Amino acid sequence: MFWRSVVGKLWFTFLLLVSFVLFVLTVMLLEFFENYHIKESEDNLTDLASNISHFIEDQELEIGLEISWELLDDITGAMVIVGEKEPYYSPEIESSLELPVSFFLKDEELSKVLTEQERVRKIIEVSSSKNNKNSRVLVIGAPIEKNDGEVGAVYIFQSLQAMQKTSDSTTKFILLAAGIAIILTTIFAFFLSTRITAPLRKMREVVFEAARGKFDTKVPILTRDEIGELATAFNQMGRQLKFNMNALSQEKEQLSSILSSMVDGVITFNRDGTILITNPPAERFLQHWYFDLEGKAVEAEAVPQDVMELFQWAVDTEQEQVGEFSVQGRYWVVIVSPLYNKKFIRGAVAVVRDMTEERQLDKLRKDFIANVSHELRTPISMLQGYSEAIVDDIAETTEEKKEMARVIYDESLRMGRLVNELLDLARMEAGHIQLTNEKVEVHSYIQRIIRKFQVLAKEKGIRLLYDQYLDDAIGLFDPDRIEQVLTNLIDNAIRHTPEGGEVRITAKTDEKWFHIEVSDSGSGISEEDLPFVFERFYKADKARTRGRSGTGLGLAIARNIIQAHKGHISVQSKLDHGTTFTFLIPRISG
Ligand SMILES: Nc1ncnc2c1ncn2[C@@H]1O[C@H](COP(=O)(O)OP(=O)(O)O)[C@@H](O)[C@H]1O
Ligand SMILES: [Mg+2]
Repeated sequence: MFWRSVVGKLWFTFLLLVSFVLFVLTVMLLEFFENYHIKESEDNLTDLASNISHFIEDQELEIGLEISWELLDDITGAMVIVGEKEPYYSPEIESSLELPVSFFLKDEELSKVLTEQERVRKIIEVSSSKNNKNSRVLVIGAPIEKNDGEVGAVYIFQSLQAMQKTSDSTTKFILLAAGIAIILTTIFAFFLSTRITAPLRKMREVVFEAARGKFDTKVPILTRDEIGELATAFNQMGRQLKFNMNALSQEKEQLSSILSSMVDGVITFNRDGTILITNPPAERFLQHWYFDLEGKAVEAEAVPQDVMELFQWAVDTEQEQVGEFSVQGRYWVVIVSPLYNKKFIRGAVAVVRDMTEERQLDKLRKDFIANVSHELRTPISMLQGYSEAIVDDIAETTEEKKEMARVIYDESLRMGRLVNELLDLARMEAGHIQLTNEKVEVHSYIQRIIRKFQVLAKEKGIRLLYDQYLDDAIGLFDPDRIEQVLTNLIDNAIRHTPEGGEVRITAKTDEKWFHIEVSDSGSGISEEDLPFVFERFYKADKARTRGRSGTGLGLAIARNIIQAHKGHISVQSKLDHGTTFTFLIPRISG
Protein backbone atom coordinates (compact mmCIF):
# COMPACT_ATOMS: atom_id res chain seq x y z
CA MET A 1 0.00 0.00 0.00
CA PHE A 2 2.71 2.40 1.08
CA TRP A 3 4.85 1.46 -1.93
CA ARG A 4 2.01 2.21 -4.28
CA SER A 5 1.41 5.68 -2.89
CA VAL A 6 3.04 8.73 -4.38
CA VAL A 7 4.87 9.39 -1.15
CA GLY A 8 6.15 5.82 -1.01
CA LYS A 9 7.48 6.16 -4.51
CA LEU A 10 9.05 9.52 -3.70
CA TRP A 11 10.55 8.12 -0.52
CA PHE A 12 11.98 5.16 -2.34
CA THR A 13 13.35 7.35 -5.11
CA PHE A 14 15.00 9.72 -2.67
CA LEU A 15 16.48 6.81 -0.76
CA LEU A 16 17.84 5.33 -3.93
CA LEU A 17 19.22 8.69 -4.99
CA VAL A 18 20.86 9.37 -1.63
CA SER A 19 22.31 5.88 -1.46
CA PHE A 20 23.64 6.15 -4.96
CA VAL A 21 25.20 9.56 -4.38
CA LEU A 22 26.73 8.42 -1.09
CA PHE A 23 28.07 5.27 -2.69
CA VAL A 24 29.71 7.16 -5.51
CA LEU A 25 31.01 9.68 -2.99
CA THR A 26 32.44 6.94 -0.81
CA VAL A 27 34.20 5.26 -3.68
CA MET A 28 35.64 8.52 -4.91
CA LEU A 29 36.63 9.71 -1.46
CA LEU A 30 38.30 6.44 -0.61
CA GLU A 31 40.17 6.48 -3.87
CA PHE A 32 41.20 10.05 -3.30
CA PHE A 33 42.23 9.45 0.29
CA GLU A 34 44.27 6.42 -0.64
CA ASN A 35 46.08 8.13 -3.43
CA TYR A 36 46.72 11.18 -1.32
CA HIS A 37 47.92 9.16 1.61
CA ILE A 38 50.21 6.98 -0.48
CA LYS A 39 51.63 10.06 -2.15
CA GLU A 40 52.27 11.70 1.19
CA SER A 41 53.87 8.59 2.67
CA GLU A 42 55.94 8.05 -0.43
CA ASP A 43 57.29 11.57 -0.30
CA ASN A 44 58.03 11.30 3.40
CA LEU A 45 59.63 7.92 3.14
CA THR A 46 61.64 8.94 0.11
CA ASP A 47 63.01 11.91 2.04
CA LEU A 48 63.70 9.65 4.96
CA ALA A 49 65.44 7.09 2.83
CA SER A 50 67.69 9.65 1.21
CA ASN A 51 68.46 11.15 4.63
CA ILE A 52 69.42 7.76 6.04
CA SER A 53 71.50 6.95 3.02
CA HIS A 54 73.32 10.28 3.43
CA PHE A 55 73.90 9.64 7.13
CA ILE A 56 75.30 6.24 6.48
CA GLU A 57 77.42 7.49 3.61
CA ASP A 58 78.85 10.38 5.62
CA GLN A 59 79.18 8.89 9.09
CA GLU A 60 80.64 5.88 10.60
CA LEU A 61 78.26 3.01 10.02
CA GLU A 62 77.42 2.63 13.71
CA ILE A 63 76.69 6.29 14.29
CA GLY A 64 74.85 6.60 11.01
CA LEU A 65 72.60 3.74 11.90
CA GLU A 66 72.08 5.17 15.38
CA ILE A 67 70.90 8.49 13.99
CA SER A 68 68.84 6.79 11.32
CA TRP A 69 66.89 4.68 13.82
CA GLU A 70 66.10 7.89 15.67
CA LEU A 71 64.41 9.25 12.57
CA LEU A 72 62.03 6.38 12.30
CA ASP A 73 58.60 6.37 14.01
CA ASP A 74 56.90 3.30 15.36
CA ILE A 75 54.98 2.33 12.26
CA THR A 76 57.96 2.64 10.00
CA GLY A 77 60.66 0.03 9.75
CA ALA A 78 64.00 0.12 7.96
CA MET A 79 66.65 -2.31 6.82
CA VAL A 80 70.13 -1.35 5.76
CA ILE A 81 72.46 -3.54 3.74
CA VAL A 82 76.03 -2.50 3.35
CA GLY A 83 78.44 -4.62 1.37
CA GLU A 84 78.37 -8.26 2.07
CA LYS A 85 77.58 -7.82 5.72
CA GLU A 86 74.46 -8.96 7.54
CA PRO A 87 71.52 -6.54 7.06
CA TYR A 88 70.67 -4.15 9.88
CA TYR A 89 67.04 -3.89 10.94
CA SER A 90 65.62 -0.97 12.84
CA PRO A 91 65.15 -2.00 16.44
CA GLU A 92 61.49 -1.20 17.04
CA ILE A 93 60.30 -3.05 14.03
CA GLU A 94 56.93 -4.82 14.07
CA SER A 95 57.23 -8.52 13.76
CA SER A 96 54.94 -8.57 10.76
CA LEU A 97 57.26 -6.21 8.96
CA GLU A 98 60.34 -8.28 9.54
CA LEU A 99 61.00 -9.11 5.95
CA PRO A 100 63.93 -11.38 5.14
CA VAL A 101 66.78 -10.06 2.99
CA SER A 102 66.10 -12.65 0.43
CA PHE A 103 62.76 -11.05 -0.12
CA PHE A 104 64.42 -7.83 -1.24
CA LEU A 105 67.12 -9.46 -3.23
CA LYS A 106 64.84 -11.78 -5.10
CA ASP A 107 62.34 -9.10 -6.01
CA GLU A 108 63.25 -7.95 -9.45
CA GLU A 109 62.36 -4.37 -8.89
CA LEU A 110 63.63 -3.98 -5.35
CA SER A 111 66.93 -5.61 -6.12
CA LYS A 112 67.60 -2.88 -8.64
CA VAL A 113 68.66 -0.64 -5.74
CA LEU A 114 71.64 -2.83 -5.10
CA THR A 115 72.44 -3.85 -8.59
CA GLU A 116 71.79 -0.67 -10.52
CA GLN A 117 71.99 1.96 -7.74
CA GLU A 118 68.43 3.14 -8.47
CA ARG A 119 65.80 4.54 -6.19
CA VAL A 120 62.69 2.36 -6.16
CA ARG A 121 59.25 2.46 -4.64
CA LYS A 122 56.78 -0.35 -4.51
CA ILE A 123 53.65 -1.51 -2.72
CA ILE A 124 53.83 -5.12 -1.80
CA GLU A 125 51.32 -7.53 -0.28
CA VAL A 126 52.58 -9.24 2.82
CA SER A 127 50.72 -12.10 4.30
CA SER A 128 51.11 -12.07 8.01
CA SER A 129 51.28 -15.43 9.67
CA LYS A 130 49.33 -14.17 12.69
CA ASN A 131 45.85 -13.53 11.38
CA ASN A 132 46.21 -14.75 7.83
CA LYS A 133 45.47 -11.34 6.59
CA ASN A 134 47.20 -9.65 3.73
CA SER A 135 48.44 -6.26 4.57
CA ARG A 136 49.84 -3.85 2.13
CA VAL A 137 53.24 -2.43 2.72
CA LEU A 138 54.90 0.52 1.01
CA VAL A 139 58.57 -0.03 0.41
CA ILE A 140 61.05 2.68 -0.59
CA GLY A 141 64.57 1.73 -1.51
CA ALA A 142 67.52 4.11 -1.82
CA PRO A 143 71.10 3.17 -2.78
CA ILE A 144 74.09 3.80 -0.47
CA GLU A 145 77.51 4.49 -1.81
CA LYS A 146 80.14 4.80 0.89
CA ASN A 147 83.31 6.81 0.47
CA ASP A 148 85.33 3.65 0.43
CA GLY A 149 83.37 2.49 -2.57
CA GLU A 150 81.32 0.01 -0.74
CA VAL A 151 77.69 -0.05 -1.97
CA GLY A 152 74.55 -0.89 -0.13
CA ALA A 153 70.89 -0.10 0.15
CA VAL A 154 68.42 1.22 2.61
CA TYR A 155 64.85 -0.05 2.48
CA ILE A 156 62.20 1.77 4.41
CA PHE A 157 58.83 0.21 4.75
CA GLN A 158 55.62 1.29 6.23
CA SER A 159 52.39 -0.62 6.59
CA LEU A 160 49.44 0.98 4.90
CA GLN A 161 47.24 -0.19 7.78
CA ALA A 162 46.97 3.36 9.03
CA MET A 163 45.42 4.39 5.78
CA GLN A 164 42.94 1.56 6.08
CA LYS A 165 41.88 3.08 9.35
CA THR A 166 41.31 6.41 7.70
CA SER A 167 39.19 4.93 4.98
CA ASP A 168 37.34 2.88 7.55
CA SER A 169 36.45 5.98 9.47
CA THR A 170 35.48 7.70 6.25
CA THR A 171 33.19 4.81 5.40
CA LYS A 172 31.74 4.98 8.88
CA PHE A 173 31.16 8.67 8.51
CA ILE A 174 29.48 8.15 5.18
CA LEU A 175 27.33 5.35 6.59
CA LEU A 176 26.31 7.64 9.38
CA ALA A 177 25.48 10.29 6.82
CA ALA A 178 23.47 7.70 4.90
CA GLY A 179 21.61 6.73 8.06
CA ILE A 180 20.79 10.33 8.79
CA ALA A 181 19.74 10.80 5.17
CA ILE A 182 17.42 7.82 5.40
CA ILE A 183 15.88 9.07 8.61
CA LEU A 184 15.54 12.53 7.14
CA THR A 185 14.03 11.12 3.97
CA THR A 186 11.52 9.18 6.02
CA ILE A 187 10.61 12.26 8.02
CA PHE A 188 10.40 14.13 4.75
CA ALA A 189 8.17 11.39 3.40
CA PHE A 190 5.80 11.77 6.33
CA PHE A 191 5.83 15.50 5.90
CA LEU A 192 5.05 14.99 2.24
CA SER A 193 2.34 12.52 3.04
CA THR A 194 0.50 15.09 5.12
CA ARG A 195 1.07 17.79 2.55
CA ILE A 196 0.50 15.78 -0.60
CA THR A 197 -1.17 12.49 0.08
CA ALA A 198 -3.76 13.72 2.54
CA PRO A 199 -5.14 16.39 0.20
CA LEU A 200 -4.89 13.97 -2.70
CA ARG A 201 -6.82 11.38 -0.74
CA LYS A 202 -9.47 13.94 0.14
CA MET A 203 -9.67 14.87 -3.49
CA ARG A 204 -10.05 11.26 -4.49
CA GLU A 205 -12.98 10.83 -2.11
CA VAL A 206 -14.65 13.91 -3.49
CA VAL A 207 -14.08 12.75 -7.04
CA PHE A 208 -15.72 9.44 -6.20
CA GLU A 209 -18.63 11.32 -4.68
CA ALA A 210 -18.87 13.43 -7.81
CA ALA A 211 -18.83 10.27 -9.87
CA ARG A 212 -21.79 9.11 -7.81
CA GLY A 213 -23.53 12.35 -8.75
CA LYS A 214 -22.95 14.37 -5.57
CA PHE A 215 -21.43 17.63 -6.62
CA ASP A 216 -21.91 19.43 -3.34
CA THR A 217 -18.85 18.17 -1.50
CA LYS A 218 -15.95 20.56 -1.69
CA VAL A 219 -12.28 19.67 -1.62
CA PRO A 220 -10.70 21.46 1.35
CA ILE A 221 -7.87 23.72 0.24
CA LEU A 222 -5.10 22.80 2.69
CA THR A 223 -2.07 24.25 0.94
CA ARG A 224 -1.25 27.13 -1.33
CA ASP A 225 0.87 25.08 -3.73
CA GLU A 226 0.00 23.22 -6.92
CA ILE A 227 -2.12 20.78 -4.95
CA GLY A 228 -4.02 23.68 -3.45
CA GLU A 229 -4.49 25.05 -6.93
CA LEU A 230 -5.61 21.64 -8.08
CA ALA A 231 -8.16 21.61 -5.27
CA THR A 232 -9.39 25.07 -6.28
CA ALA A 233 -9.57 24.00 -9.90
CA PHE A 234 -11.39 20.88 -8.86
CA ASN A 235 -13.92 22.80 -6.81
CA GLN A 236 -14.45 25.09 -9.75
CA MET A 237 -14.94 22.12 -12.00
CA GLY A 238 -17.43 20.64 -9.53
CA ARG A 239 -19.38 23.87 -9.49
CA GLN A 240 -19.35 24.07 -13.25
CA LEU A 241 -20.34 20.43 -13.55
CA LYS A 242 -23.17 20.89 -11.10
CA PHE A 243 -24.34 23.93 -12.98
CA ASN A 244 -24.18 22.10 -16.28
CA MET A 245 -25.86 19.03 -14.88
CA ASN A 246 -28.61 21.19 -13.45
CA ALA A 247 -29.02 22.95 -16.75
CA LEU A 248 -29.07 19.60 -18.52
CA SER A 249 -31.57 18.03 -16.19
CA GLN A 250 -33.71 21.14 -16.30
CA GLU A 251 -33.66 20.97 -20.05
CA LYS A 252 -34.48 17.30 -19.90
CA GLU A 253 -37.32 17.89 -17.46
CA GLN A 254 -38.59 20.68 -19.60
CA LEU A 255 -38.47 18.45 -22.62
CA SER A 256 -40.18 15.60 -20.85
CA SER A 257 -42.83 17.87 -19.37
CA ILE A 258 -43.43 19.33 -22.79
CA LEU A 259 -43.64 15.82 -24.20
CA SER A 260 -45.96 14.55 -21.50
CA SER A 261 -48.26 17.55 -21.66
CA MET A 262 -48.51 17.43 -25.41
CA VAL A 263 -51.84 16.53 -26.89
CA ASP A 264 -50.14 14.84 -29.81
CA GLY A 265 -48.32 11.58 -29.33
CA VAL A 266 -44.59 11.53 -29.91
CA ILE A 267 -42.52 8.42 -30.55
CA THR A 268 -38.81 8.61 -31.22
CA PHE A 269 -37.09 5.77 -32.96
CA ASN A 270 -33.58 4.56 -33.17
CA ARG A 271 -32.08 3.98 -36.57
CA ASP A 272 -32.96 0.32 -36.33
CA GLY A 273 -36.56 1.11 -35.46
CA THR A 274 -36.60 0.51 -31.71
CA ILE A 275 -38.67 2.91 -29.66
CA LEU A 276 -36.62 5.34 -27.58
CA ILE A 277 -39.16 7.71 -26.09
CA THR A 278 -42.95 7.78 -26.01
CA ASN A 279 -45.35 10.14 -24.32
CA PRO A 280 -48.77 9.30 -22.87
CA PRO A 281 -50.84 10.02 -26.00
CA ALA A 282 -48.43 7.90 -28.05
CA GLU A 283 -48.77 5.14 -25.48
CA ARG A 284 -52.54 5.35 -25.77
CA PHE A 285 -52.18 4.91 -29.50
CA LEU A 286 -49.95 1.88 -29.04
CA GLN A 287 -52.34 0.47 -26.43
CA HIS A 288 -55.22 0.74 -28.86
CA TRP A 289 -53.12 -1.02 -31.40
CA TYR A 290 -52.12 -3.83 -29.02
CA PHE A 291 -55.75 -4.22 -28.10
CA ASP A 292 -56.65 -4.43 -31.78
CA LEU A 293 -54.23 -7.31 -32.25
CA GLU A 294 -56.11 -9.21 -29.55
CA GLY A 295 -53.68 -11.64 -28.14
CA LYS A 296 -51.55 -12.01 -31.21
CA ALA A 297 -48.07 -12.36 -29.81
CA VAL A 298 -46.25 -9.06 -30.09
CA GLU A 299 -43.15 -7.82 -28.42
CA ALA A 300 -43.72 -5.07 -25.92
CA GLU A 301 -41.62 -2.72 -28.01
CA ALA A 302 -43.36 -3.51 -31.25
CA VAL A 303 -44.75 -0.82 -33.47
CA PRO A 304 -47.62 -1.16 -35.93
CA GLN A 305 -46.46 -2.49 -39.26
CA ASP A 306 -47.78 0.55 -41.13
CA VAL A 307 -45.93 2.94 -38.86
CA MET A 308 -42.81 0.84 -39.34
CA GLU A 309 -43.21 1.18 -43.09
CA LEU A 310 -43.56 4.94 -42.77
CA PHE A 311 -40.46 4.98 -40.60
CA GLN A 312 -38.56 2.97 -43.20
CA TRP A 313 -39.71 5.33 -45.91
CA ALA A 314 -38.72 8.36 -43.91
CA VAL A 315 -35.27 6.95 -43.25
CA ASP A 316 -34.79 5.82 -46.84
CA THR A 317 -36.02 8.95 -48.54
CA GLU A 318 -34.89 11.34 -45.80
CA GLN A 319 -38.25 12.99 -46.11
CA GLU A 320 -41.26 13.50 -43.92
CA GLN A 321 -43.90 10.81 -44.36
CA VAL A 322 -47.55 11.11 -43.46
CA GLY A 323 -49.92 8.23 -42.96
CA GLU A 324 -53.41 7.67 -41.65
CA PHE A 325 -54.70 4.69 -39.71
CA SER A 326 -57.89 3.75 -38.06
CA VAL A 327 -57.42 1.76 -34.89
CA GLN A 328 -60.31 0.80 -32.62
CA GLY A 329 -62.66 3.13 -34.44
CA ARG A 330 -60.40 6.11 -33.97
CA TYR A 331 -58.50 7.90 -36.69
CA TRP A 332 -54.81 8.57 -36.24
CA VAL A 333 -52.56 10.62 -38.44
CA VAL A 334 -48.90 9.72 -38.11
CA ILE A 335 -46.18 12.05 -39.36
CA VAL A 336 -42.71 10.52 -39.37
CA SER A 337 -39.76 12.81 -39.96
CA PRO A 338 -36.11 11.79 -39.89
CA LEU A 339 -33.88 12.86 -37.01
CA TYR A 340 -30.42 14.00 -37.91
CA ASN A 341 -27.20 13.62 -36.07
CA LYS A 342 -25.21 16.28 -37.88
CA LYS A 343 -25.46 14.87 -41.39
CA PHE A 344 -26.47 11.33 -40.64
CA ILE A 345 -29.90 10.05 -39.87
CA ARG A 346 -29.90 8.68 -36.39
CA GLY A 347 -33.56 7.79 -36.23
CA ALA A 348 -36.94 9.31 -36.69
CA VAL A 349 -39.62 11.01 -34.70
CA ALA A 350 -43.25 10.17 -35.22
CA VAL A 351 -46.00 12.56 -34.24
CA VAL A 352 -49.27 10.75 -33.70
CA ARG A 353 -52.42 12.81 -33.73
CA ASP A 354 -55.88 11.61 -32.84
CA MET A 355 -58.00 12.99 -35.65
CA THR A 356 -61.20 11.24 -34.64
CA GLU A 357 -63.03 14.40 -33.64
CA GLU A 358 -61.92 16.27 -36.73
CA ARG A 359 -63.08 13.38 -38.84
CA GLN A 360 -66.39 13.29 -37.00
CA LEU A 361 -66.81 17.00 -37.47
CA ASP A 362 -66.00 16.58 -41.13
CA LYS A 363 -68.55 13.84 -41.39
CA LEU A 364 -71.07 15.89 -39.47
CA ARG A 365 -70.57 18.81 -41.81
CA LYS A 366 -70.97 16.63 -44.85
CA ASP A 367 -74.02 14.95 -43.32
CA PHE A 368 -75.43 18.31 -42.44
CA ILE A 369 -75.19 19.56 -45.97
CA ALA A 370 -76.60 16.32 -47.28
CA ASN A 371 -79.46 16.53 -44.77
CA VAL A 372 -80.27 20.14 -45.54
CA SER A 373 -80.26 19.42 -49.25
CA HIS A 374 -82.40 16.42 -48.69
CA GLU A 375 -84.85 18.30 -46.50
CA LEU A 376 -85.12 21.09 -49.01
CA ARG A 377 -85.44 18.84 -51.99
CA THR A 378 -88.75 17.37 -50.93
CA PRO A 379 -90.66 20.66 -50.55
CA ILE A 380 -88.97 22.15 -53.60
CA SER A 381 -89.93 19.25 -55.80
CA MET A 382 -93.45 19.45 -54.41
CA LEU A 383 -93.59 23.19 -55.11
CA GLN A 384 -92.32 22.52 -58.62
CA GLY A 385 -94.73 19.68 -59.29
CA TYR A 386 -97.85 21.43 -58.03
CA SER A 387 -97.08 24.81 -59.51
CA GLU A 388 -96.37 23.11 -62.85
CA ALA A 389 -99.71 21.38 -62.62
CA ILE A 390 -101.43 24.71 -62.06
CA VAL A 391 -99.50 26.37 -64.91
CA ASP A 392 -100.28 23.50 -67.26
CA ASP A 393 -103.96 23.69 -66.24
CA ILE A 394 -103.99 20.07 -65.18
CA ALA A 395 -106.45 20.81 -62.43
CA GLU A 396 -109.87 21.06 -63.77
CA THR A 397 -111.96 22.36 -60.97
CA THR A 398 -111.32 25.35 -58.78
CA GLU A 399 -111.50 22.94 -55.86
CA GLU A 400 -108.51 21.03 -57.21
CA LYS A 401 -106.60 24.22 -57.93
CA LYS A 402 -107.28 25.40 -54.41
CA GLU A 403 -106.08 22.08 -53.08
CA MET A 404 -102.85 22.38 -55.08
CA ALA A 405 -102.30 25.94 -53.96
CA ARG A 406 -102.87 24.72 -50.42
CA VAL A 407 -100.08 22.14 -50.80
CA ILE A 408 -97.77 24.78 -52.22
CA TYR A 409 -98.61 27.03 -49.32
CA ASP A 410 -98.00 24.25 -46.76
CA GLU A 411 -94.71 23.28 -48.30
CA SER A 412 -93.49 26.85 -48.46
CA LEU A 413 -94.45 27.19 -44.80
CA ARG A 414 -92.48 24.05 -44.07
CA MET A 415 -89.48 25.40 -45.96
CA GLY A 416 -89.73 28.66 -44.10
CA ARG A 417 -89.88 26.77 -40.82
CA LEU A 418 -86.95 24.64 -41.79
CA VAL A 419 -84.85 27.63 -42.72
CA ASN A 420 -85.82 29.46 -39.54
CA GLU A 421 -85.03 26.46 -37.38
CA LEU A 422 -81.73 25.94 -39.14
CA LEU A 423 -80.81 29.54 -38.58
CA ASP A 424 -81.85 29.25 -34.95
CA LEU A 425 -79.83 26.13 -34.43
CA ALA A 426 -76.82 27.52 -36.21
CA ARG A 427 -76.92 30.61 -34.01
CA MET A 428 -77.25 28.51 -30.87
CA GLU A 429 -74.46 26.16 -31.78
CA ALA A 430 -72.22 29.06 -32.60
CA GLY A 431 -72.81 30.23 -29.02
CA HIS A 432 -74.94 33.20 -29.94
CA ILE A 433 -77.92 32.19 -27.85
CA GLN A 434 -79.15 35.18 -25.92
CA LEU A 435 -81.47 34.51 -22.99
CA THR A 436 -83.77 37.25 -21.82
CA ASN A 437 -84.60 35.89 -18.40
CA GLU A 438 -87.82 37.01 -16.76
CA LYS A 439 -89.70 36.16 -13.61
CA VAL A 440 -92.45 33.81 -14.63
CA GLU A 441 -95.36 32.39 -12.66
CA VAL A 442 -94.82 28.85 -13.91
CA HIS A 443 -98.30 27.36 -13.41
CA SER A 444 -100.22 29.92 -15.47
CA TYR A 445 -97.41 30.02 -17.99
CA ILE A 446 -97.71 26.27 -18.71
CA GLN A 447 -101.48 26.50 -18.70
CA ARG A 448 -101.34 29.17 -21.37
CA ILE A 449 -99.12 27.00 -23.62
CA ILE A 450 -101.34 23.97 -23.20
CA ARG A 451 -104.34 26.01 -24.14
CA LYS A 452 -102.79 26.57 -27.56
CA PHE A 453 -102.95 22.84 -28.24
CA GLN A 454 -106.45 22.17 -26.96
CA VAL A 455 -108.08 22.62 -30.36
CA LEU A 456 -105.53 20.47 -32.15
CA ALA A 457 -105.84 17.74 -29.54
CA LYS A 458 -109.60 17.74 -29.75
CA GLU A 459 -109.37 17.48 -33.53
CA LYS A 460 -107.21 14.43 -33.23
CA GLY A 461 -109.28 12.94 -30.44
CA ILE A 462 -106.48 13.06 -27.91
CA ARG A 463 -106.87 13.92 -24.25
CA LEU A 464 -104.52 16.63 -23.17
CA LEU A 465 -103.98 16.52 -19.38
CA TYR A 466 -102.12 18.72 -17.00
CA ASP A 467 -100.91 17.79 -13.50
CA GLN A 468 -99.11 20.38 -11.47
CA TYR A 469 -97.42 20.45 -8.05
CA LEU A 470 -96.06 23.95 -8.20
CA ASP A 471 -97.68 26.06 -5.41
CA ASP A 472 -97.32 29.43 -7.16
CA ALA A 473 -93.67 28.84 -7.83
CA ILE A 474 -91.89 31.64 -9.65
CA GLY A 475 -89.20 30.74 -12.17
CA LEU A 476 -86.48 32.82 -13.70
CA PHE A 477 -85.91 31.87 -17.34
CA ASP A 478 -86.40 32.95 -20.92
CA PRO A 479 -90.17 32.34 -21.38
CA ASP A 480 -90.10 32.49 -25.18
CA ARG A 481 -87.34 29.89 -25.45
CA ILE A 482 -88.87 27.53 -22.93
CA GLU A 483 -92.19 27.91 -24.74
CA GLN A 484 -90.37 26.84 -27.91
CA VAL A 485 -89.20 23.69 -26.12
CA LEU A 486 -92.59 22.87 -24.61
CA THR A 487 -94.36 23.56 -27.87
CA ASN A 488 -92.11 21.18 -29.72
CA LEU A 489 -92.49 18.47 -27.10
CA ILE A 490 -96.26 18.71 -26.97
CA ASP A 491 -96.48 18.97 -30.76
CA ASN A 492 -94.34 15.86 -31.11
CA ALA A 493 -96.41 14.01 -28.55
CA ILE A 494 -99.68 14.87 -30.25
CA ARG A 495 -98.26 14.02 -33.65
CA HIS A 496 -97.07 10.61 -32.56
CA THR A 497 -100.17 9.64 -30.57
CA PRO A 498 -103.09 7.96 -32.31
CA GLU A 499 -106.72 8.85 -31.77
CA GLY A 500 -107.97 8.04 -28.28
CA GLY A 501 -104.55 8.36 -26.76
CA GLU A 502 -103.54 10.87 -24.15
CA VAL A 503 -100.82 13.41 -23.65
CA ARG A 504 -100.00 14.33 -20.07
CA ILE A 505 -97.98 17.31 -18.95
CA THR A 506 -96.67 17.19 -15.40
CA ALA A 507 -94.90 20.08 -13.65
CA LYS A 508 -93.14 19.65 -10.28
CA THR A 509 -90.62 21.55 -8.31
CA ASP A 510 -88.03 20.87 -5.61
CA GLU A 511 -85.49 23.18 -3.96
CA LYS A 512 -83.32 23.36 -6.98
CA TRP A 513 -85.22 22.40 -10.06
CA PHE A 514 -88.40 22.60 -12.06
CA HIS A 515 -89.23 19.17 -13.47
CA ILE A 516 -91.45 19.35 -16.51
CA GLU A 517 -92.58 16.15 -18.12
CA VAL A 518 -94.43 15.55 -21.38
CA SER A 519 -95.56 11.96 -21.72
CA ASP A 520 -97.80 10.34 -24.27
CA SER A 521 -99.34 6.99 -24.95
CA GLY A 522 -98.24 7.08 -28.56
CA SER A 523 -96.09 5.07 -30.87
CA GLY A 524 -92.90 5.36 -28.80
CA ILE A 525 -89.39 5.37 -30.11
CA SER A 526 -87.39 2.22 -30.77
CA GLU A 527 -84.41 1.47 -28.62
CA GLU A 528 -81.92 1.93 -31.48
CA ASP A 529 -83.29 5.38 -32.25
CA LEU A 530 -83.53 6.56 -28.68
CA PRO A 531 -79.94 7.77 -28.21
CA PHE A 532 -80.12 9.85 -31.36
CA VAL A 533 -83.43 11.69 -31.10
CA PHE A 534 -81.66 14.84 -29.96
CA GLU A 535 -79.37 14.90 -32.99
CA ARG A 536 -80.31 17.34 -35.65
CA PHE A 537 -82.24 15.98 -38.62
CA TYR A 538 -82.87 12.76 -36.82
CA LYS A 539 -86.24 11.29 -37.46
CA ALA A 540 -87.26 8.03 -35.97
CA ASP A 541 -90.18 7.64 -38.35
CA LYS A 542 -88.32 7.56 -41.61
CA ALA A 543 -91.43 8.02 -43.72
CA ARG A 544 -91.65 11.68 -44.51
CA THR A 545 -95.23 12.58 -44.59
CA ARG A 546 -96.30 15.71 -46.18
CA GLY A 547 -97.49 18.79 -44.37
CA ARG A 548 -97.23 18.59 -40.65
CA SER A 549 -94.24 16.26 -40.59
CA GLY A 550 -91.35 17.87 -38.80
CA THR A 551 -87.89 18.87 -39.82
CA GLY A 552 -85.99 16.76 -37.31
CA LEU A 553 -84.49 19.89 -35.76
CA GLY A 554 -86.97 20.51 -32.96
CA LEU A 555 -85.37 18.30 -30.31
CA ALA A 556 -81.86 19.51 -31.21
CA ILE A 557 -83.02 23.07 -30.66
CA ALA A 558 -84.78 22.06 -27.45
CA ARG A 559 -81.62 20.51 -26.09
CA ASN A 560 -79.62 23.61 -26.95
CA ILE A 561 -82.12 25.85 -25.18
CA ILE A 562 -82.21 23.68 -22.06
CA GLN A 563 -78.41 23.52 -21.97
CA ALA A 564 -78.24 27.29 -22.29
CA HIS A 565 -80.42 27.40 -19.16
CA LYS A 566 -77.94 25.04 -17.47
CA GLY A 567 -80.66 22.44 -17.35
CA HIS A 568 -81.04 18.92 -18.56
CA ILE A 569 -83.31 17.08 -20.94
CA SER A 570 -83.84 13.35 -21.24
CA VAL A 571 -86.15 10.84 -22.87
CA GLN A 572 -87.65 7.51 -21.94
CA SER A 573 -89.69 5.46 -24.33
CA LYS A 574 -91.11 2.09 -25.05
CA LEU A 575 -92.18 1.20 -28.55
CA ASP A 576 -96.00 1.17 -28.92
CA HIS A 577 -96.50 2.21 -25.30
CA GLY A 578 -95.49 5.82 -25.23
CA THR A 579 -92.76 8.30 -24.72
CA THR A 580 -91.79 10.58 -21.86
CA PHE A 581 -89.61 13.65 -22.33
CA THR A 582 -88.42 15.27 -19.11
CA PHE A 583 -86.55 18.47 -18.77
CA LEU A 584 -85.11 20.16 -15.72
CA ILE A 585 -84.32 23.83 -15.40
CA PRO A 586 -82.82 25.39 -12.34
CA ARG A 587 -85.16 27.44 -10.15
CA ILE A 588 -82.72 30.29 -10.16
CA SER A 589 -81.46 30.29 -13.65
CA GLY A 590 -78.57 32.13 -14.78
N1 LIG B 1 -93.41 11.83 -28.44
C1 LIG B 1 -92.78 11.15 -29.43
N2 LIG B 1 -93.20 9.91 -29.76
C2 LIG B 1 -92.56 9.22 -30.74
N3 LIG B 1 -91.54 9.70 -31.44
C3 LIG B 1 -91.09 10.94 -31.17
C4 LIG B 1 -91.69 11.72 -30.14
N4 LIG B 1 -91.03 12.90 -30.08
C5 LIG B 1 -90.09 12.86 -31.05
N5 LIG B 1 -90.10 11.69 -31.68
C6 LIG B 1 -89.19 11.27 -32.77
O1 LIG B 1 -88.04 12.09 -32.72
C7 LIG B 1 -87.84 12.72 -33.96
C8 LIG B 1 -87.23 14.07 -33.76
O2 LIG B 1 -88.13 15.00 -33.22
P1 LIG B 1 -87.97 16.52 -33.51
O3 LIG B 1 -86.58 16.85 -33.32
O4 LIG B 1 -88.97 17.28 -32.73
O5 LIG B 1 -88.24 16.60 -35.05
P2 LIG B 1 -89.59 16.72 -35.79
O6 LIG B 1 -90.65 16.84 -34.76
O7 LIG B 1 -89.44 17.93 -36.60
O8 LIG B 1 -89.72 15.47 -36.58
C9 LIG B 1 -89.19 12.75 -34.58
O9 LIG B 1 -89.05 12.75 -35.96
C10 LIG B 1 -89.83 11.48 -34.08
O10 LIG B 1 -89.47 10.42 -34.90
MG1 LIG C 1 -90.82 18.32 -33.44
